[in-house]
Amino acid sequence: MNPIESLERLFGSRIKKNVPLAPLTTIGVGGRAEFYFEPCCIRELIIVRKIGCETGLTLRIFGGGSNVILDDNHMKGLVISTHSLSGFNVSHEDHHIYVKVESGVPLKRLIALSVKEGFAGFEFAVGIPGTMGGALCGNAGVKDHSVSDIVRWVETIDSEGVITRRNKNEIHWDYRYSGLCDQDCYISQCCLDLVLSSRQDVRSAVKSFWQRRVHQPYGFKSAGCIFKNPDGDSAGRLLDLAGCKGLRKGDAVVSHFHANFIINYGEASFEDMVGLIRECKRRVKDFSGIDLSLEVKIISDTQVEI
Ligand code: EPU
Repeated sequence: MNPIESLERLFGSRIKKNVPLAPLTTIGVGGRAEFYFEPCCIRELIIVRKIGCETGLTLRIFGGGSNVILDDNHMKGLVISTHSLSGFNVSHEDHHIYVKVESGVPLKRLIALSVKEGFAGFEFAVGIPGTMGGALCGNAGVKDHSVSDIVRWVETIDSEGVITRRNKNEIHWDYRYSGLCDQDCYISQCCLDLVLSSRQDVRSAVKSFWQRRVHQPYGFKSAGCIFKNPDGDSAGRLLDLAGCKGLRKGDAVVSHFHANFIINYGEASFEDMVGLIRECKRRVKDFSGIDLSLEVKIISDTQVEI
């Protein structure tokens, strides 16, 4: 029995074929997945991971699709979406509020929970798209605040289906980096360590973080910031100085609001996106000598050089 037949025996028509991936990303670029599955609980994620690894089926795990640029060629193997791993629960211990969060929970739901209940610590994440799993993987954040600041522990699933829980200090964190995704582990859930405050204070902190985003394009199809900030500088500023705003390839355009965002104005292709990213990187290198590195993840069956 081939791997897909084994999965179909367990999950029936929930193993979907030939699924378009572009609508599952915030930039709206990408081809179709050969096979696609949304586990509805962590146990199912473990099963699919184990079967995939035992049988050599190519697996790719996919969260909110906010920090990725997908190849528009057919994607081989099985794409696993964390969309339905959306449970969370809250417990109190002394002054701590522990929120256990499954990897598919969108950050905006956690912001809404924080405001409703007066939980402080997560306000900085307002406006960051995507899910908890993706945020942990890339240690998402804003200036001076990252997801790692408020993590208590993270659970991952290895290729044998074994769950490991790591405390925050057992994980290597850095600016827009966590060691979690280097180890070929799937994030299943985490626990956030927040503080009880007042609704009013949390709401005004959320507002003030939101105001920091006024210079960013909002309501357009984008993958967030394309490049990481180099030490002590802003990639957006450097891209702006290098004359990148308004550069265009097909329907992919460097935002006039903030030069570290590329907007898909319609039917931008993977080639348009990659071409524009290369051009931006080259201009910054020529102008300032700085080699920008990517914050977004480029996902393709073939090796793509930027
Ligand atoms: N700037 C320009 N031109 C531009 C963009 C920015 O001159 O086109 C200047 C701004 O005027 C400001 C400086 O660059 O003086 C910094 O800009 P900004 O405050 O927008 O912050 P950033 O460093 O560009 C970072 C994060 C954003 C986060 C903001 C707000 C990275 C790569 N970017 O941007 O995160 O929203 O701070 O805190 O770390 C993301 O990660 O996807 C993201 C958008």
